Amino acid sequence: MSTAISPTAYNYKVVRQFAIMTVVWGILGMGLGVFIASQLVWPELNFGLAWTSFGRLRPLHTNLVIFAFGGCALFATSYYVVQRTCQTRLISDSLAAFTFWGWQAVIVGAIVTLPMGFTTTKEYAELEWPLAILLAIVWVTYGLVFFGTIVKRKTKHIYVGNWFYGAFIVVTAMLHIVNHASLPVSFFKSYSAYSGATDAMIHWWYGHNAVGFFLTTGFLGMMYYFVPKQAERPIYSYRLSIVHFWALITLYIWAGPHHLHYTALPDWAQSLGMAMSIILLAPSWGGMINGMMTLSGAWHKLRTDPILRFLVVSLAFYGMSTFEGPMMAIKTVNSLSHYTDWTIGHVHAGALGWVAMISIGAIYHMIPKLFGRAQMHSTGLINTHFWLATIGTVLYIASMWVNGITQGLMWRAINDDGTLTYSFVEALQASHPGFIVRALGGAFFASGMLFMAYNVWRTVRASNPAEAKAAEQIAVVGAH
Ligand code: HEM
Ligand code: HEM
Repeated sequence: MSTAISPTAYNYKVVRQFAIMTVVWGILGMGLGVFIASQLVWPELNFGLAWTSFGRLRPLHTNLVIFAFGGCALFATSYYVVQRTCQTRLISDSLAAFTFWGWQAVIVGAIVTLPMGFTTTKEYAELEWPLAILLAIVWVTYGLVFFGTIVKRKTKHIYVGNWFYGAFIVVTAMLHIVNHASLPVSFFKSYSAYSGATDAMIHWWYGHNAVGFFLTTGFLGMMYYFVPKQAERPIYSYRLSIVHFWALITLYIWAGPHHLHYTALPDWAQSLGMAMSIILLAPSWGGMINGMMTLSGAWHKLRTDPILRFLVVSLAFYGMSTFEGPMMAIKTVNSLSHYTDWTIGHVHAGALGWVAMISIGAIYHMIPKLFGRAQMHSTGLINTHFWLATIGTVLYIASMWVNGITQGLMWRAINDDGTLTYSFVEALQASHPGFIVRALGGAFFASGMLFMAYNVWRTVRASNPAEAKAAEQIAVVGAH
């Protein structure tokens, strides 16, 4: 445990570090997204090299955007929110610093090993066992810092945002440790402890709940703090937030089998996954409505505040993707959508529209406060970023809907004599315009991140150490 804990100041150092790295990894991860999107348009960009091929860079993209960009945003905001809502400093500076450096080490490990082809082959859990163990140690330390801080809080109740962050931390640890159980055969090769349909089921229990707890519950924690703060209104319904929390965490965990429709998984498990996914619409929308309605009486602020726009539009995309998801979980719909770009569109409606937009809004909210400035260097640039991100997301998901439905229908079209109407290559050719539009949408979104980096840099540069120090002082109870 650290010895130098000042009881009167927040630990903003670690929050600043994670916040800045969110922007850095966002640019790299999304830049790589644009690159792999371009490879699907111009296959020459694979350069004929194994380590620059789509197959190796795609998992690097998912690791960078989910764990590096999304993860750093979750670390930054959870450390910020838990301190401010508990009116106390993080329980240990050194453990918090370990989570920062440990997390960056895991990411650098991913950047080195994935292009080299070291992979478990399990989607979103590709990192081989030495990195997976480091990740588990960092994560357990994160849990100690977060819950330790909750325990020593100065406030009576635990703010609802912390419930969501807490569930995200506990469940992510459980998923990662269970799914990664494996037998190492060399330093960079291991085999899963499970086999066959059991391995698939455990993996998609992990995969779906990585979506449910990493890409959703953690970001809902963010929503419950930053939407009311930015709107300067209390959360619409505290009671709804409690119902939302318990309903979401009890339902999400059952829906994983919708990733394995029409596979060797027992039919009852598939149907259960489908039913639970449909029920999941209710808590998802309950949360979205709670966030949206927080703007009651403050809607006019959207005209002048692009940060609030980021936060509110993220909720709209959250509502959209959590409507689309249950629909795609219906077996007959999934028989069309599965394997097609529709899934990719759904993923990015959630990933760009929800996860990235809410993170960007939260980071813009925090940066001036972390560096003792009244506001970001340029509101105009935030507005430009907002439009680039929104247009980029819409181009991305609309092109993937068109592609997905086209592919699904072309693949299943059958002539009178029972032969296929279209070859696979014909469906691929029909997808080409959509690939171009997606790459364009991605370029819009990623270029917005460059505006953000410039704006953040100017804001940080304008701050002096005294201002930054003053910002760390713990305010009086009730002022969080
Ligand atoms: C500029 C922005 C982005 C672009 C251009 C982009 C592009 C891509 C591309 C081309 C793929 C591969 C699709 C395929 O295999 O057909 C992909 C996959 C994926 N991306 Fe992105 N991406 C972006 C941002 C993000 C962000 C911010 C996240 C998450 C927070 C994300 C999460 C994912 C995931 C989870 C997959 C795998 C989807 C699946 O297997 O179904 N992406 N992305
Ligand atoms: C009620 C909420 C949701 C439900 C019921 C749901 C359901 C689904 C379904 C049925 C699929 C397609 C499975 C397949 O055919 O392989 C899917 C894929 C996916 N969804 Fe969702 N979804 C929901 C919300 C979200 C959100 C908010 C995000 C992102 C933040 C997200 C991220 C993903 C990802 C990454 C995949 C691709 C997994 C893969 O690699 O195959 N989902 N979802």
